[in-house]
Amino acid sequence: MKKIPWAIPDIGEDEFNEVKKLFDINWLSMGPQTAKFEEAMKAYVNRKYALAVNNGTTALDIAFKVLGIKPGDEIILPAMTYIATGSMVLNQGAVPVYADIDRYTFTIMPEAIEKCITSKTKAVLTMDYGGNSCDYDIIEKICRKHGLYLIVDAAQSLGGYYKNKPLGSFGDIATMSFHSAKVMTTIEGGMIFTDNDNYAEKIMIMRNQGEDPREKYKHIMLGYNARLTDMQAAIGLAQFSKIKKYLTRRAEIAQKYIKAFSQTGKIQTIKIEKDNKMAWFLFPILVENRDEIDKKINEFGVDTRRCYHLPLYKHPMFSEYSDAYCENAEYISARVINLPIFPKLTDKNIDFIIEAVANAIK
Ligand SMILES: Cc1ncc(COP(=O)(O)O)c(C=O)c1O
Repeated sequence: MKKIPWAIPDIGEDEFNEVKKLFDINWLSMGPQTAKFEEAMKAYVNRKYALAVNNGTTALDIAFKVLGIKPGDEIILPAMTYIATGSMVLNQGAVPVYADIDRYTFTIMPEAIEKCITSKTKAVLTMDYGGNSCDYDIIEKICRKHGLYLIVDAAQSLGGYYKNKPLGSFGDIATMSFHSAKVMTTIEGGMIFTDNDNYAEKIMIMRNQGEDPREKYKHIMLGYNARLTDMQAAIGLAQFSKIKKYLTRRAEIAQKYIKAFSQTGKIQTIKIEKDNKMAWFLFPILVENRDEIDKKINEFGVDTRRCYHLPLYKHPMFSEYSDAYCENAEYISARVINLPIFPKLTDKNIDFIIEAVANAIK
């Protein structure tokens, strides 16, 4: 048993009390709490619509379907990201085209996007690694110039900013995840953001079995049961009331790590562009001899992750579609270790983690 886990959610009495209230009134499926949660998220992310769904993977699937992505369409996406970013491209029968990521910010490089554009390209799909923003001014300009949709996988982005704009506010459609390790959680859950009335209507229909909102049991499009429950929304609302505290603590932990690791000369930490704010969902470090060092950190009693130790195109499920090679994604994937970063970590825990890393790289 590891002494310090990689992540644990801050779930307790607040969340329990909110859920208990729903048991008392006997309304647990999608309803008023979900609407309240959507209102809160929409205001926070500064969007016209925030529509709750059952997870961030389905959110992406619905985003593609709403935009009419078809088999054979090419979607440009970062070469290193969580599997769902890419698997939902495959789910449309669309073709993932891998753009390299920046060696320092770990986000998709605008110049790499431009190189990937062909007559078949329909959309650019970005992901804010660990809540570190992509360069949206340039990416939006590229999309406008070439008539491409911008879809943002903002699964990890809650609380981050690009210049003075909250992450999740970019893209024709942006999607988010509230999985239990995330900055805030509904245990499982997701959100789809858009400013477009037509997309919003389709999302609402699609998440509810394609049912006509005007006539129950009449189904006007192919849909899902992608509804969030009110029980989850109530947990989300309780979590959301503490978001400022969570983000502040994450940033504090990150600063402690950065200060400690910058003195070693052997550890690269992530670069945050001036004017941006990272949500610090992840705290990645890059080290040589990663597997050996990771093992030592684990043996010391600290759990870690390797997000993501394979570029997307190296997963067997993708490799048959591509012979891609992206130099920076390869470099980062071979060196990345993600350290624990969650609000419940104490200062003592952080010192212990820093000691574990120092010990491992000696
Ligand atoms: C970048 C990214 N995309 C998509 C997802 C999928 O979200 P979910 O786990 O809620 O389905 C995640 C979740 O970890 C993620 O990190």
